[in-house]
Amino acid sequence: MHLFTYRNGELYAEEVPVKKLAETYGTPLYIYSYTTLLKHFLAYRDAFDRVPHIVCFALKANTNASVLRLIANNGGGADVVSGGELFRALRAKIPSKKIVYAGVGKTEGEIRYALKSRILMFNVESGDELIEIDRLAGTMKVKAPIALRVNPDVDPGTHAYIATGLKKNKFGIPIEEALEYYKLAQNLKNTKIIGIHKHIGSQITKVSPFVDALKKVLLLMDALQGRGIQVRYLDIGGGLGITYKDEDPPLPQDLAKSLIPMLKGRNVTLILEPGRSIVGNAGILVSQVLYLKKRAEKYFVIIDAGMNDLMRPSLYGAYHHIQPLEKTVRKTICADVVGPICESGDFLAKDRELPALKRGEFIAVMSAGAYGYSMSSRYNSRPRSAEVMVKGKEHSLIRRRETCYDLIRGEHIPDFI
Ligand code: LLP
Repeated sequence: MHLFTYRNGELYAEEVPVKKLAETYGTPLYIYSYTTLLKHFLAYRDAFDRVPHIVCFALKANTNASVLRLIANNGGGADVVSGGELFRALRAKIPSKKIVYAGVGKTEGEIRYALKSRILMFNVESGDELIEIDRLAGTMKVKAPIALRVNPDVDPGTHAYIATGLKKNKFGIPIEEALEYYKLAQNLKNTKIIGIHKHIGSQITKVSPFVDALKKVLLLMDALQGRGIQVRYLDIGGGLGITYKDEDPPLPQDLAKSLIPMLKGRNVTLILEPGRSIVGNAGILVSQVLYLKKRAEKYFVIIDAGMNDLMRPSLYGAYHHIQPLEKTVRKTICADVVGPICESGDFLAKDRELPALKRGEFIAVMSAGAYGYSMSSRYNSRPRSAEVMVKGKEHSLIRRRETCYDLIRGEHIPDFI
């Protein structure tokens, strides 16, 4: 569901014509719908209402402070994977006791920062990391709350780059070895076992991989209990897919319907780490058509947004629907929609059937709210785009467009040059 809809042939973001926003703030421009975001977040909260739970928004999908504040204001927590994300979460007033921290390469500085911040738990991804966290907690005279991230070896049926729960992936501890590592953790002086974590991948469009993975994790929980290890938090990760094209993914309520009965009689707080399913369809990227280039073999629509602004199509061959802001009767073209970057891989769509676009008109790249701005770069020295949030008739800049001075900020030319 989202609130980017046509009214009398004109695309609106909630109550505001998108064209007005493009003219006011310039392009490329990320636009988020407040109401869509909130609805998506509350869908999780309501679906899992019957069990103790925390919805820890995965910051990697979108780190804008306004998005995070909205989550914080509605009782959400955060799933972070770096000191930088932890900093952002805390700045946005997400309570530290609702923050979980995953990632295979946590540094000493990051671990100290998280310990000092008193986060809810570390989702530990290896034996080495476990020992390092324990050592650092010892030097700081605190106890480190931990969960082990287990890798349940379940195929999420998604793009290879975003599958994380298979044996061949770098994430977590193989589930069949987990008991050994829990025993190791039990003997560490400065570590407190409080949970189990798993995350099997992203853009998952069926419930069954979640069920299969949870079954395996619950067996582990029973084995732990047999060894006197009680876990209070069961973190099932994120990964619910969204509709980019014609996918029909389950909703949080479908997930809840299948998973909650499996937890009967277990005294645990469930942690969910959704990213994409909260923010993906709550955001669009608006761009302007600069030039049309017709060749015998190919038709190119050249726009002012490139792979540096939205890299998902280039990186994963991901599909994002592209539509003009004005819906009029026109001929159809088949074109590549490409950006200004000097790379052949710089495209937002390939061989796409589109209404014949005109020079100068604005287009909307849909479902761009997750892993859009957060994965953007300044490649080719392109200042990053602006971000705007709309709520009803109101709209506001939530991140200003970068300038050329932002590009060189922090650079230094030494005397020896
Ligand atoms: N928790 C953990 C430990 C994760 O690694 C991820 C995503 C999430 C939660 C959130 O997953 P979500 O609910 O958003 O599916 N850049 C890729 C997606 C990479 C996802 C990485 N991990 C893309 O644009 O599709």
